[in-house]
Amino acid sequence: MKVSIVTDRKALPQELIIPVEQHDKTGHFLTSLATQFELPNGFITDFKGKYKETLVLYSNQKNPSKIYLVGLGKKPSFIKTREALRSFAFQKKDKFDQSIGLETTYLSTPLALEAAINGLELSTYNIHLFHSKTVKPHFLTTNNLEILLNEENNSLKKEAIQKGIATGETQKQAFDLVNLDAAHLKPTALANWAVQSGKKYGYEVKVFDKTASAQLGLKAFLAVNRASEFAPAFIVAEYRPKNLSTAPKVGFVGKGVTFDTGGLNIKTAGMHFMKSDMGGAAAVLGAIELTAKLQLPIHLTVIVPATDNCVDALAIRPSDVIDSFSGKTIEIIDTDAEGRLTLADGVAYMIKNYQPDVLIDVATLTGSSIRALGYHAGALFSSSSELANELKAVGERTGERLWELPLYEEFINELKSDVADIRNLGTRPMAGASTAAKFVQFFTDNHPKWAHLDIAGVAFSDSEYTKQKAGTAFGVNLLVEYLKGLIKNSSQEESA
Ligand code: BES
Ligand code: MN
Ligand code: ZN
Repeated sequence: MKVSIVTDRKALPQELIIPVEQHDKTGHFLTSLATQFELPNGFITDFKGKYKETLVLYSNQKNPSKIYLVGLGKKPSFIKTREALRSFAFQKKDKFDQSIGLETTYLSTPLALEAAINGLELSTYNIHLFHSKTVKPHFLTTNNLEILLNEENNSLKKEAIQKGIATGETQKQAFDLVNLDAAHLKPTALANWAVQSGKKYGYEVKVFDKTASAQLGLKAFLAVNRASEFAPAFIVAEYRPKNLSTAPKVGFVGKGVTFDTGGLNIKTAGMHFMKSDMGGAAAVLGAIELTAKLQLPIHLTVIVPATDNCVDALAIRPSDVIDSFSGKTIEIIDTDAEGRLTLADGVAYMIKNYQPDVLIDVATLTGSSIRALGYHAGALFSSSSELANELKAVGERTGERLWELPLYEEFINELKSDVADIRNLGTRPMAGASTAAKFVQFFTDNHPKWAHLDIAGVAFSDSEYTKQKAGTAFGVNLLVEYLKGLIKNSSQEESA
């Protein structure tokens, strides 16, 4: 989406979008609009500014001659503002084919402006990956969005506009990664995506194939890949900022299971959803792309152990004992608890080679987290209440909600194995999200600032924009906003 900034109302294009909040004074605002644009008065009492309410008005003036009111609702949050604009521009995608203006009275803070621009950018997403008929390009991809700002030199607002676009572009990439089926998004294709993104935005990407992974000793990861036709890819991406020596060191690990059949413990219903089992990978790869684009002063390393989980004569069996990168042995109870095996090697490799100050893993890990929280929040686990609170607060702001679940010491008892250091499934069918988190924690070497985000319920959802479930890019903005907060905190510490 291309934008330009207009400071003179007279320079607006013919069509104008006006987001409107719902509150006591909405009527006054509408009255002033009526005067300003010579509009008939009837609409003032009709339009309330309710969330996603829209109204088209015709003016006698030339620029603009057509005005679209878009309701934001009462005290709109980031996500409400984003979704109101996204929904509007998505529904109108075939109606417009010229430049359009955006009035910003109700987008007066940089954050509200970012939300609106992000929503408009996201509205251009085209999921028709393999439709043979080509679809008409979205008007915002072929025409300018002209944003009316009163102040000419508002660098914070210009930054917010850029952030909204940059985030949306990366989120759309994350949508594609999740929406692509496993025959098209093989582990090597996911790795190639990272390599290309790294080249484009300036971060380094190393990809370890099967042989290299074996040499590194990534045995739990390779155990999951054993039955697969497709080569595994252990992806290590590193973004080094200019201030490398003083930058906070952060590590993200994402579950990159490109398809999860369950293995020998084969899944039945809903297996087609399992093309989304690399939603964690999409989140962390999106996050590093956006971090590099925004050139954040953070030394960020991202690891994605990418493989699918298949059925074959070579497949790992329930009862097999496997090795792992950490040297700890694992008794396989259920081959469908495969994500934690890949994460075990991912986090252990990260800690050994990169020693991050903060370590966050993101994974579509358990159906249990969905049973606990539904589709409304990701499950959060952390060794640090400070980190947990920070992530929760950021998620409330960006609309990527997290809810904390416990990591009680007792859960480790559920994972005791007679024959190995740990088993990959709890002994009882309860607290499955917590025992999965505990399993991952076992490989973190008691990292004091570790968090685990189980995003099984929120990475792939029903949406207004698709007939079936689709990728949500959950985690991309959350992780980057978390990093931005970290920069603020660490520079405050320095100056204190
Ligand atoms: N990828 C699934 C978790 C999942 C379920 C993600 C539904 C998205 C939607 C994971 O690998 C899995 O199979 N988990 C099992 C674990 C069980 C066998 C211990 C689950 O949660 O049912
Ligand atoms: Mn599974
Ligand atoms: Zn899985």
